Amino acid sequence: MTPHYPEDSDLPPETARRDMHDWEEFVANHVYPEPHKPQSSYRNYDAQAREGVRDFYRKNHRHQTVDFVEAQRAKYLPLQTRRLTVLEALDYLNTLVDDSDPDIELDQLQHLLQTSESIRHDGHPDWFVLTGLVHDLGKLLCLFGEPQWAVVGDTFPVGCAFNNRIVYHGFFDENPDRAVPDYGSESGMYEPGCGLRKVLMSWGHDEYLFHVMKDYLPEPALYMIRYHSFYAWHREGQYDHLCDDHDREMLPWVQAFNPYDLYSKNPTPPNWNELKPYYMELIRKYLPAELSF
Ligand SMILES: [Fe+2]
Ligand SMILES: [Fe+2]
Repeated sequence: MTPHYPEDSDLPPETARRDMHDWEEFVANHVYPEPHKPQSSYRNYDAQAREGVRDFYRKNHRHQTVDFVEAQRAKYLPLQTRRLTVLEALDYLNTLVDDSDPDIELDQLQHLLQTSESIRHDGHPDWFVLTGLVHDLGKLLCLFGEPQWAVVGDTFPVGCAFNNRIVYHGFFDENPDRAVPDYGSESGMYEPGCGLRKVLMSWGHDEYLFHVMKDYLPEPALYMIRYHSFYAWHREGQYDHLCDDHDREMLPWVQAFNPYDLYSKNPTPPNWNELKPYYMELIRKYLPAELSF
C-alpha cells in the first residue's frame, strides 16, 4: 500500500493548535488507513487539526538532532525522574486531557485499554496483552514538561541520512544535522548492519519506555515498545542497512503490534473498573510494584 503523504500546498497557513491526538489520528486515518475500510478524505480532515499536525512535524524534524537526542538520554535514562506503580502511571497519564477538543472520547487510558483488549480478544500471549496496556506510558514525558514534538510522532534514526519515506520529510531541510558531513550518508555515523540497538533514535516515548521496561518484559515486547513509532522501518521497509538479523527476526512482532495500536476503536469502550482485577494480576506477574521513570 502506498502511504498518502499530503502536499504542503494543500494546507492553510499555520495556526497555533496542536496536540497528540492530531498526530495519532492523522497517522491512522491519513497516512496508513486501515485496509478495507472506507476512509474520510484528507481534504475533509479538520483544517485546524491538519495545521496542528504540520506544525508538529516541522518542530519535530527541525529539532531532533544527535545533540538533542543525547541530551534527552542523559536527562532521562538514569530513570530518576519519578517512581510510580503502573496504576499511578496510568492515572497520571490520563490527566493528559486534550483540552482543545471537549468531545474527545479516547483518552489515554482508553487508548491503552482498547489496544490491550483487542490483543487479548485475538488470543495472543499475556505479555503481548500487557504490552498493549503499557506501550504509551512513556508519554509521561509530557507531564515532565517536554513538548509534544519530543514525546510523540514517528521516530527515526539520527546521525545518518533522513529517509525520504518519513512523513513530512521536507521539514528535515530545517534540521541542523543536515550540515554535518558525517551524518549525510545512508549509514552516517553507524557501521552498516550494526543492529538497531546501536542506533540513536529520535527522542520520544518509545525509547524512554523501553528503558523503563527493559528488565521485565520478553524481547518481542521490548521491540514493540521501542520501535512502535518507527514507521519508516516497520511499515515502509526502510533502514534495513542498519539492522542485524536479530532486528529482522523481531520485526514481525513490531508489525503484529501496529494494527492494534492504530485501529483499535471499539464503539463500546472497555470498562476499566471491571477489567482492573485481570490487569492487576497481569501487572503483578511481570512488573515490580514500582517502576523507575
Ligand atoms: Fe505510542
Ligand atoms: Fe499507542
